[in-house]
Amino acid sequence: MIVLKVQHLRLSSALALAFFFLILSQMVLAAGPKDAEAAGATLFRDKGCSYCHGATAQGTQKGPSLANVRKKLKPAQIATQIENGGQKMPSFEDSLSKDEVAQLVAFLRAKHRPEPAPIAPKPQTPAP
Ligand code: HEC
Repeated sequence: MIVLKVQHLRLSSALALAFFFLILSQMVLAAGPKDAEAAGATLFRDKGCSYCHGATAQGTQKGPSLANVRKKLKPAQIATQIENGGQKMPSFEDSLSKDEVAQLVAFLRAKHRPEPAPIAPKPQTPAP
């Protein structure tokens, strides 16, 4: 009898888990690739990539242009570069989640790269 109950519990939690993943996958699908690209654009600006690679990834003295990176590197190679860094590029493994790395890759691979989300305006201090 006890065994039965335990099994029943396992089954219901397994169902709950399956349901959870179903919802999660629906959410990811609903988010779509365009949302990932847009999120990547914002990360590119906010995580410091643009400091070295330039606001539009055009390149600066600190980092090369990433304009044609989609023709040069495979998605996995871009992800590895972001996670491990390189000679002068720092590793971002600890400061970015897997999802965020994927969003940056989506952004860098996009044919028409989206603009990052606008920066929230600072509250205006009234003139004295
Ligand atoms: C401190 C400067 C710096 C920062 C910050 C930086 N990078 Fe880099 N990045 C470089 C340099 C320099 C290279 C060239 C290879 C090397 O020396 O590591 C590079 C190379 C790359 C490459 C490979 C380019 C190629 O043509 O092979 C990618 C992709 C890239 N960076 C993406 C990013 C992303 C995304 C971020 C933000 C999460 C970022 N970088 C942050 C300096 C930087």
